[in-house]
Amino acid sequence: MSDPRVPAGPRRHLLTVSDLTSDDVARILETADGLASSLDREVKKLPTLRGRTVVNLFYESSTRTLASFELAAKRLSADTMSLRSSGSSVDKGESLKDTAATMAAYDPDVIVIRHPAIGAPQVVARSTQAHVVNAGDGKHQHPTQALLDLYAMEEALGRLEGLHVAIVGDVLHSRVARSLVQALALVGARSTVIGPPTLLPRGIEALGCAASTDLADARDADVLYVLRMQRERMQAGEAFVPSLREYSALYGITPERVRPGQVVMHPGPMNRGIEIDPRVADSDAALVADQVRAGLVVRMAVLYDVLTVAAVRAPVTEAVA
Ligand code: CP
Repeated sequence: MSDPRVPAGPRRHLLTVSDLTSDDVARILETADGLASSLDREVKKLPTLRGRTVVNLFYESSTRTLASFELAAKRLSADTMSLRSSGSSVDKGESLKDTAATMAAYDPDVIVIRHPAIGAPQVVARSTQAHVVNAGDGKHQHPTQALLDLYAMEEALGRLEGLHVAIVGDVLHSRVARSLVQALALVGARSTVIGPPTLLPRGIEALGCAASTDLADARDADVLYVLRMQRERMQAGEAFVPSLREYSALYGITPERVRPGQVVMHPGPMNRGIEIDPRVADSDAALVADQVRAGLVVRMAVLYDVLTVAAVRAPVTEAVA
């Protein structure tokens, strides 16, 4: 029998930040905030998603996203199953659609998917009855990363509206940058993407940001958001920068490049010594560990959110009691 606190209803997905309104973002962050207090208790498990099943389907490597989705589901008492493509029948040539159909046969409520191909979460949403959450598709979107980043920023700075966030580095290959630019616009913050011309996608301003090749334009930002150089998405022979040493000299975030009062964020994993100096990564200005912690409560909130229907949603305090 289904849990009345999580009513059945139309399928809701989180595939891109474009799926969200500013009200959705505010509600998810508020839910995450309510859930955060539950993590201070001795018994951290909540009954909210008891009887529900969450499948994590990961076709790309992950530490933070997979671990936090799995723990988030467990903390909400859902049954979880995680399948990494490596070591599964994907190695034998099974297609995404067939793998999704195989997982769907176990009747999951939510499928969380990470995949190198843009649009893979939409394929799963079309071919199963589950609610689908995008945990990163190629260089397209990583909506839960954007939400957790907003949560960590608000915790550290006390507000989101009016903030200026400088997003520095390999914007071209970054789903994190694309999602974050859109999410910041939804909460009334502004963003500037900064990097070498070869790593700035043409027309990125259409997502709602400014673009610059000059790191000096990060000087007045409240947040320096450092992106990982995504060497795995660069084809052999492609040279986006003359050398990593030169990239680092021009765009690497060193202590001298962090203005007093600025906070520094990085989605991880970090290439220490390339895009971020270890002295910055380990400084008090860095929110990297706060981002990881935010990932757990925000992903708990997202799982809760996709499984509830606005019209009959219980207040979060009731839902987690
Ligand atoms: N930020 C992020 O997506 O990290 P993982 O690749 O470790 O999940």
